[in-house]
Order: sequence, then C-alpha cells, then structure tokens
Amino acid sequence: MAIMVVSRFCFFVMATILSLQLCDGKVIMEYIGATGKPVTFDDVPIKSGIDFHFILSFAIDADASGTPQNGKFSPYWSPTLTASSVAAVKQKHPNVKALASLSGWSLGSTTLRWYKPENSQIWVTNAFNSLKSIIKTYHLDGIDIDYEIFPKHNESFSYCIGELITYLKNQSVISIATISPYRLTTLPYIKLFEDYGGVIDYVNHQFYTDKVKTTEAYLEDYRLRTTEFDAEKMLPSYEIDGRGIQGDLFFDALRILVENGFEINGIMLYSADASAFTNSTSRFYYEEKSQEFLLNSTRI
Ligand SMILES: *[C@@H]1O[C@H](CO)[C@@H](O)[C@H](O)[C@H]1NC(C)=O
Ligand SMILES: *[C@@H]1O[C@H](CO)[C@@H](O)[C@H](O)[C@H]1NC(C)=O
Ligand SMILES: *[C@@H]1O[C@H](CO)[C@@H](O)[C@H](O)[C@H]1NC(C)=O
Ligand SMILES: *[C@@H]1O[C@H](CO)[C@@H](O)[C@H](O)[C@H]1NC(C)=O
Repeated sequence: MAIMVVSRFCFFVMATILSLQLCDGKVIMEYIGATGKPVTFDDVPIKSGIDFHFILSFAIDADASGTPQNGKFSPYWSPTLTASSVAAVKQKHPNVKALASLSGWSLGSTTLRWYKPENSQIWVTNAFNSLKSIIKTYHLDGIDIDYEIFPKHNESFSYCIGELITYLKNQSVISIATISPYRLTTLPYIKLFEDYGGVIDYVNHQFYTDKVKTTEAYLEDYRLRTTEFDAEKMLPSYEIDGRGIQGDLFFDALRILVENGFEINGIMLYSADASAFTNSTSRFYYEEKSQEFLLNSTRI
C-alpha cells in the first residue's frame, strides 16, 4: 500500500515535470555548414533552458557532380562539422540536438530540385537506409526538409517525404522532423503538412524570403503563414546579415507577435556561418539575443 502511494506520488511529480517541460520548451533552430566555410559548433553561444537544434546543411540525394542518386543521400555540409564534433557539443550541452537538412538550393554550381522518382517505394527505402546511416554516424536526432525547386507536378513530394519521416520516426531513427518552406514553395509543403502534419514538429518558414522589412508587415505575414500551417508549430525566422527584417526590429516584431496573441515557441536562424564570418563587432549577437528573448518569455 505504502509503495503504491509513493509510486503514485513519484508518477505525479514526474508527470508534472514532464508537462512543464513540454509547455515551456523553447527552441532555437540554427542552420550551419551550408557555405563550406570552416564553421564549428564551438563558437556558438548556447544557454541552458533552451533546446538548441543545429541543422546541418545539407544531406543531398546526389553524387558530387550533382546527379540524383534515386534517394541515396550523402552529407555535403562543411567538413569541419565532423561526427566527433557533433558528439562533443551534445556532451557539453545536454540541451543540444542536431538535424540534417535535406537538399537545399544547390551543390556547387548545380541547382537542386525535387524530381518524381521512377518508383516511390524504392526512393523511400533508399532514403531511409542512407539517412539512417548518416544519422547514426553523425549522432543526429532528426531531419529538416529544405527542397526549394519543384516541377509543376510535385504530388510525389508529399508522399515520399511524408512516408520517409513516418518510417524514420516509427523505427526510432529520429525524434524530430521539421520543414522549411519559402515564399515560392508553400504549396507542396502545405500538401505535405496536410497529409503528414502529425509527424512534423516545427515549420521553419523562411520569413526573410517574404520581402517583409517592417514590424507591421512581419505581423501580417505571420498571420498568413499560420493559417497555412499550425500556429503552434510555426517558428519566426531571421536571416543574419541577409534579407527581410534586419537588426533589433526583428525583436520588436517578435514582441508585436506576442502582443497580438501568438505564442512564440522558438526562433529559426540562418545561419551560424553568417555569424561566424561576419565583419560586425558583435558576432553571434542574434543567437545571444534570440535565446534571451525566449528565456524572458518563459519566466513566470
Ligand atoms: C506543385 O504542384 C501544384 C499542384 O499541381 C502546382 O499548383 C504548383 O505550381 C507546383 N509547384 C510549386 C512550387 O508549388
Ligand atoms: C510502426 O509501424 C508499424 C506498422 O504500421 C506498427 O505496427 C508499429 O507499431 C509501429 N511502431 C511504432 C514504434 O510506432
Ligand atoms: C568582410 O570583409 C571582407 C574583407 O573586406 C570581405 O571580403 C567580406 O565580404 C566581408 N564579409 C561580410 C559578411 O560583410
Ligand atoms: C529580457 O528582459 C530584460 C529584463 O526585462 C530586458 O532588459 C531585455 O531587453 C529582454 N531581452 C529581450 C531580447 O527581449
């Protein structure tokens, strides 16, 4: 009887802690390694109390010359992002996770695009096996979907990518999956989200491609994107030294989103490469300030 009471009490405490974490867990999603520059995890400031996700850019279904390999992915992120450096940053910071982003814009001079596989089942099997191997080798926790160019008929995208994520999650190869639509690619991602939203954890919409440079325009754009995808899964995003809203106006925009009833569950940043190799005197300013913003908003 006493044991029952104690174990029930423990269960209650555990459940409470777990639900608090689930409610308050805020995330940073930061792309890293897309430029080929010698970027490392070491310089990036990581605060405790935030789930910090590095998105390694990119794993690509192509050989080195850019020719598609029927679902067989290879890692093409900066060679400085080694398997042991992923293990080291995760060991140093238990709140760090790492994802591989699929595709991206180009490989060398070859522009990458979604293509209709000859046989969808074989594509999914090849993708599952090749990604499982990369994920094990590099100690990764998830994948991000960043196809950026589509053919007119792109119905195969939702099916192949949705099945791939479902299968990777079902076999416990990954625990996190995110998608990264941009201004011109929302349609295929909306279809994917409608069909497979249950296995997609976050939407890293690239707001910096939407040509919004003011807080008012950012709010209107955010309203639009949260009608296309779930508001709770949407992350506002910022391109460091890039397009869209720039500087501290971004944090003003975030405060305005909150004032308008949006809950900000995380922030996507593109990219650690830009922060590491900036000429600005305040390297990693946006990483520091984004985490501060999220921590401020979790404080009771
Ligand atoms: C994807 O497919 C839909 C439906 O066929 C089409 O309207 C759209 O233009 C295609 N491409 C993109 C990038 O949305
Ligand atoms: C994976 O999917 C199979 C087939 O749908 C199902 O039987 C099994 O329970 C699933 N496993 C997990 C861990 O969800
Ligand atoms: C930083 O300065 C160097 C040398 O002047 C220049 O080549 C590079 O483009 C600059 N980088 C940025 C991000 O402005
Ligand atoms: C966090 O809160 C402190 C104290 O209220 C404030 O000074 C700071 O500007 C806030 N930071 C951000 C990024 O919102």
